[in-house]
Amino acid sequence: MPELAATLAWGRRYVMVRPDHFRIDYAINPYMDLDHQPDQGLAMAQWVDLVSTVERLGGTVEVVPPRDDAPDMVYAMNLGLGLVRPDGAGHVVMSHMRYAERRMEILTAQPWFERSGRSTSYVGRDGVGAHLEAGDVFAWGDALVAGFGPRTEELALKHLATDLGVRVRGVRITHPAMYHLDLAFCPLDERHALVAPGAFDAASAAALLELVPEPLVLTDHEALSTFCANSIVVGRTVVMPAGSPTRVMSQLAEWDFEVVEVDVSEFHKGGGSIRCLTNPVDLTLGRDVPLVDGGQVLLPALD
Ligand code: ARG
Repeated sequence: MPELAATLAWGRRYVMVRPDHFRIDYAINPYMDLDHQPDQGLAMAQWVDLVSTVERLGGTVEVVPPRDDAPDMVYAMNLGLGLVRPDGAGHVVMSHMRYAERRMEILTAQPWFERSGRSTSYVGRDGVGAHLEAGDVFAWGDALVAGFGPRTEELALKHLATDLGVRVRGVRITHPAMYHLDLAFCPLDERHALVAPGAFDAASAAALLELVPEPLVLTDHEALSTFCANSIVVGRTVVMPAGSPTRVMSQLAEWDFEVVEVDVSEFHKGGGSIRCLTNPVDLTLGRDVPLVDGGQVLLPALD
């Protein structure tokens, strides 16, 4: 038996937003279609099922109140990058959304995070400054890995690195339907991750595959048609969107993961799945991401 790779230390505490006002009011990604509205009742039932699944697996969920003018706010992953500082204090780097349609979400989320006892900071606001969407950022290995291109701007990586004092590895996203890193990359444990290389330019795809000792490589079709990379991991259980490819699920079982499927089909209409709905806030600086004096940004060589 090969030794089990160490479980991710983060991914047990989540922030989510109730889908009371989830609608498709505009189209800012290729999945959104104003003629294809979610069923409100079904969306709520699916969301409640996701919350209870996370809780049953030993995770916790804090709920941010929704805004009726923010139909995408349910995709809580994009509110900000939740962190725990080395002294144990919570901190959130608020997203600065690429599209004005989502910027009001932060007006509710930022004071909510403050009230919950966390400090907050910004890389940009009100459309000015670098865009950062937290669905583009993960801890992996000795760094944060950050996708840039469709949503997050390269400049935001510099802010993250210097503000937090960490190494940030940038990967350039080029596929319009994998517009956030979390649609193409999912850390599973310290050796394994789901990776859809088709989301990135050649140099970035190669760099990301190089960083993962044992990647589960997804085809574009697998990533796009099932949102399977948009999964979360609670301990050794992978919570995946229902209908994820059996090939992927059997590989996970072989690696000794439990797989739990949750149907979040209504949320696929807005272009997001399980990860987008759940924002982990227990990523710990100095534990999950090493601190580096002054911070550092590393980009793959341009081809
Ligand atoms: N409609 C949302 C948007 O386009 C979907 C966000 C999906 N979230 C994610 N973390 N990938 O912004």
